[in-house]
Amino acid sequence: MIENVQTDADSFPWWKRGVIYQIYPRSFQDSNGDGTGDLRGITERLDYLSWLGIDAFWISPFYPSPMADFGYDVSNYRDVDPLFGTLADFDALVEEAHARGLKVVIDFVPNHTSDQHPWFVESRSSRDNPKRDWYVWRDPKPDGSPPNNWLATFGGPAWTLDEATGQYYLHGFLPQQPDLNWRNPEVKEAMLDALRFWLRRGVDGFRFDVAHHIMKDPELRDNPANETPGILHKPMGDFDSQLHVMDRMHADLHPTYQEIRAVIDSFNTETQPRFMIGETHIFEPVQWASLYGEQLNEMHMPANFGLLRAQWNAKSVRAHVDSIEAALPAGAWPNYVLSNHDDWRTATRVGPPQAKVAMMLLLTLRGTPTIYYGEELGMENVEIPPDQEQDPAGLRVPGIGMGRDPERTPMQWDASPNAGFAPEGVTTWLPLAPDYKTRNVAVEKADPKSILNLTNELLELRKSHPALAVGDYAAIDGVPDECFVYTRSTAGQRVLIALNLTNQEHQFTLPYTGTGQVVTSTGKDRTGKISLTFMVLQPNEGILIDITGAKLA
Ligand code: NOJ
Repeated sequence: MIENVQTDADSFPWWKRGVIYQIYPRSFQDSNGDGTGDLRGITERLDYLSWLGIDAFWISPFYPSPMADFGYDVSNYRDVDPLFGTLADFDALVEEAHARGLKVVIDFVPNHTSDQHPWFVESRSSRDNPKRDWYVWRDPKPDGSPPNNWLATFGGPAWTLDEATGQYYLHGFLPQQPDLNWRNPEVKEAMLDALRFWLRRGVDGFRFDVAHHIMKDPELRDNPANETPGILHKPMGDFDSQLHVMDRMHADLHPTYQEIRAVIDSFNTETQPRFMIGETHIFEPVQWASLYGEQLNEMHMPANFGLLRAQWNAKSVRAHVDSIEAALPAGAWPNYVLSNHDDWRTATRVGPPQAKVAMMLLLTLRGTPTIYYGEELGMENVEIPPDQEQDPAGLRVPGIGMGRDPERTPMQWDASPNAGFAPEGVTTWLPLAPDYKTRNVAVEKADPKSILNLTNELLELRKSHPALAVGDYAAIDGVPDECFVYTRSTAGQRVLIALNLTNQEHQFTLPYTGTGQVVTSTGKDRTGKISLTFMVLQPNEGILIDITGAKLA
């Protein structure tokens, strides 16, 4: 068992000891009655976020955008789309958040712009336009076909022919999202300058969209075929027919992220250490870990999506956590994601009876957790009638579950019409969940056994228990295959987390003598001392036990 303990949570920066909450701004709070959430709406709900106990929130894109991909197609990196408000609204949000001690992380989309961005409009205007090389343009093959076999994430080839100039441009996502050419120094400088713009406005950090995509094979060689489809974490249609080894993750990412990191770090102050997390869909742990940088001088954290891909059983969840712990470079800090705006709601994926166990896992592992809005309520995927479907991924590649609308429905605040998300009578941009009258913040706050109150308690416990916030992790062997049991320890404190990932009771012996003190449990029905020699976990139960001072058997 690892006994290498650490102490003093305060010496860890906020992004290590804290918890990040993801806000999809269209869906959090509508302040102006147009059926879509906005920045003022977020400001109105800051007291809720303070109460909940998160440390930072990340807002998905709010930049001016034609919304082909709901904001991930940016047409101006230095402003706010009128749908979401104004720069003044953003400044007010930062000020109000900081007044409550909350950090603000914004989404940054480096890989591609909108095709309506003035840079691309210029770039496509002629072959000799000075901005032509800001994007990736290539001649057709002699037969007129695209320059290579790369496929777009949202269906079809990753190349679209521009009839007027006779060349193809590259787009890893929609044709309306042309890829920037980060090998052009002017592009890099323009993007670094956009980061500076927001750093000067006081943001605490960035979430970099598809961060691993920005450097591709400079020779644009074909991707090899994928002989074993199904390796991605969800169905992706034809995109899964290739191994994406040429269209992303080129080694030149490393010096590029070192430059990006240097700019971000140059804004650090004693009281405001800045931070960036990269969205990195890399499932091989060593390759993933390389994105921290050999000198820990690249991403503060490459986002870890391994739990989205793990089967929901104790063996595969533990195997994932252990592989991350083993792959982490010395001094690097892990992180875990259970859901987001691209993936199924946790309660839907693992089944509602396991939702509290999943939340206890997320908030007790060693590493920074991200909670997607509504997960604290146990929100589920919402079935969207075909005529109300919005997401281009689902519309372009229908029938295989690629659509992301089900996990993007409005936040459920109360039982009033439109769930407190938007005024009565307004048509919300996506339909509300059918269960919103019983599953909402107001109802769950009043229910001591709700997942909302469990989440709130776990977030408070992370603050009062350094072992939970920053302590070392050690898995416990010798427990049933259906249970995941681990400890988190600092020099002065040790807690044990016992999770039953099934709907059957399990009994086992722990390698400790005597008793521990129950801190909390998913059922909120356990108190007092608990035997460590003989443990019974109820179906779908998780227990958090203080075992400080307990002796090994
Ligand atoms: C990843 C984002 O999370 C997703 O929502 C978006 O569609 C793609 N990147 C393209 O920007």
